[in-house]
Amino acid sequence: MTDFETIDVMLSDLLVNEPEFITHAKENSIKNHLPEYEVSASQGKFLYLITKLNRSARVLEIGTLGGYSTLWFAHAIKSKGKVVTLEIDSNTALVAQQNIDSSPYKDTIDIKVGPATKSLQKMIENQEPKFDLIFIDADKENNAIYLNLAYSLSQKGTVIIADNIVRDGKILDKNSKNPSVSGVKKYLNELSTNDNYDSAGIITAGIKGIDGFSLTIVN
Ligand code: SAH
Ligand code: DHB
Ligand code: MG
Repeated sequence: MTDFETIDVMLSDLLVNEPEFITHAKENSIKNHLPEYEVSASQGKFLYLITKLNRSARVLEIGTLGGYSTLWFAHAIKSKGKVVTLEIDSNTALVAQQNIDSSPYKDTIDIKVGPATKSLQKMIENQEPKFDLIFIDADKENNAIYLNLAYSLSQKGTVIIADNIVRDGKILDKNSKNPSVSGVKKYLNELSTNDNYDSAGIITAGIKGIDGFSLTIVN
């Protein structure tokens, strides 16, 4: 293990205190052969804390996987609100639903299965109530599209967080043909040039390697 990984494990052991149903979600996802793409324990706890800081009642997540981050959000809002989470893959969504059903928050979380762009467009058409926090963590090539759609579902003060904006420094590669890299660059460029957003990018190092997230408040 590198030092970063050891420190990350130490900090999570000291501070995270992961609820049993959230640990179970991670273990059951592995048992069902989902990739281990979920945020780290410390990042999950961080998302939970931001959700509480913002006094969020409604959270929108793009990219469910096994519902690990989803359950952290639900745990932060308790049963006073709603987490809507979008997942393209129906088998993955089934595992997430199992994990959510084994948690105290099955009535708090709605999984919408299908391509996120479609689900977002439908929610905008249906004039869904606005969200207090939006977490973008699906196919990175569509990040800028997700941001524009998410904006229509946000209001002043909405927090928008995007995961995986650094990916071991791949965003530095000017010649990259990787669509995830160009998607993240487009996303950051939109945050940078659009006055609707007030943002920072944070580099992280730990059990998920060198990566990072952006934190945005909608003006
Ligand atoms: N937020 C999760 C991890 C999500 S991994 C956590 O931290 O626990 C990314 C997920 O996005 C995968 O499950 C993948 O199937 C899903 N995904 C990929 N492309 C998508 C799309 N176009 N629409 C919706 N979900 C998508
Ligand atoms: C991967 C990691 C993520 O956090 C994610 O959202 C998607 C993919 C990965 O390690 O490939
Ligand atoms: Mg991610």
